[in-house]
Parts: sequence; structure tokens; C-alpha cells
Amino acid sequence: MLFDFETLPVADRYKLVVSTVVPRPIAWVVTQDAAGVVNAAPYSFFNAFSDDPVVVGIGCGPRPKGAAKDTLENIRATEEFTVCLVPETALGGMTVTATDFPPGVDELAEAGLTKVASSKVRPPRIGESPVALECRTFQLVPVGHHTIVLGRVVAMHVADDCILDAEKKYVDTPKLGLVGRMHGRGWYARTTDRVEVPRLTLAEWEAQKTKG
Ligand SMILES: Cc1cc2nc3c(=O)[nH]c(=O)nc-3n(C[C@H](O)[C@H](O)[C@H](O)COP(=O)(O)O)c2cc1C
Repeated sequence: MLFDFETLPVADRYKLVVSTVVPRPIAWVVTQDAAGVVNAAPYSFFNAFSDDPVVVGIGCGPRPKGAAKDTLENIRATEEFTVCLVPETALGGMTVTATDFPPGVDELAEAGLTKVASSKVRPPRIGESPVALECRTFQLVPVGHHTIVLGRVVAMHVADDCILDAEKKYVDTPKLGLVGRMHGRGWYARTTDRVEVPRLTLAEWEAQKTKG
């Protein structure tokens, strides 16, 4: 079935995109307001886009009545945030932080989660997350009623027990236990079911084709 995104209502486009572009990694974004109150919320319009500098992007939509979410307001005010990645063990806490609390509420305290001081930015990282990216604003890109926050990653924490070889920067990715967001409200995918397909050089592909 063909869907024409130039004529479909926004709610329908949203449903189609979030139930097909899956699984999406989840940025559990920690910010602080100008008074230093900590805010945390999950964002699955999220990915990493480049390596020099490392830039990640987060799509921040509006609140139901149109006002900006606290994450975006805080990033506008302070230009700093941390992105924590979400393991299955933290899904319950993450869900609490997605509640529409009014500005000034510390969602990490509400959810009983652990704040750990960051090394280069003021917002802390979440102790229950095995990976955290410390970010400074690179650019804010308005896209309709969303704002895409592009963040330059200035430091990264990886849980010690998930490092295989610090020298070679080998990470035990399966051990991170991360989840991705699936369709609908409340569905997630584990990263435990994997498939390996070795990459081919052009010569290997040509040889494979000749063999028939
Ligand atoms: C798994 C998950 C992913 C989410 N992804 C997004 C997203 O990409 N963009 C967005 O605007 N809201 C997203 N939300 C909703 C926000 O987390 C929610 O509106 C939250 O209350 C915003 O908090 P804040 O006002 O403290 O920033 C998501 C919620 C969940 C549970």
C-alpha cells in the first residue's frame, strides 16, 4: 500500500514512521535548567551521524499544547546535556522519566535513579545506564514543530565490565544489554538476537558470482 506523505495528516505520518523505522536507539537525555534542577526524558528520534566531530541528533517534539519540552528548553538555556543509552534493566525507570512532569521536577529523583557527575558538562549521567555521551550543542535545526538537537560528543563513559580491550577500544556490545524502541506505546526490542553476515571485497563478490 502506498501512503502519500504530502497529503496525509501529521498523526498518520507519525504512526507510519514510528511503527516501521524500528528498532530505534533511545537517547535518555539528562539536562539541567538555569537553576540547576536536573531533568531526564527518553527520546527515540535519535541516532549518531558522524565521527569527526561525533555528532548525535535528537528530535524534540512539542508538548500536547504546543509548548517546548523541558529537555529542549534546558538545552537552549545551557547548551549542555548527556545522552545515556537504555539497558533492559532500566526500562522501568526510563518509563517514569517519560511522564509529563511540569518544569522544575527532577525526574531522576522521582524514579529513584542514580546521578553520577559528568567529567566535562554540568548535567550528570544516569548510573543505571552502561553508556553515556557528554554533549555540547552543535546546532539546533527547526523542522516543522520538531527541533532537531545536534550535539557534539565531548566525552563518553562505558561501564568498566563492558570493556573488552581498552587499548583497542573493543566494547562487549552484547553485554551492554541495550534495548531499542519498537512500534506503539511501550514496546521495545532486545539486542540479544543477532545475525552475522561477513562483508565482501569486490574480488570476493566476483569470485562468488563466477562460482555460480
Ligand atoms: C521510549 C520513548 C521515546 C520517546 N521519544 C520521543 C522523541 O523522540 N521525541 C519526543 O519529542 N518525545 C519522545 N518521547 C516522549 C518524551 O519522553 C516525553 O514527552 C517527556 O515527558 C518529555 O520530557 P521533558 O519535557 O522533560 O523533556 C518518548 C517517550 C518514550 C517513552
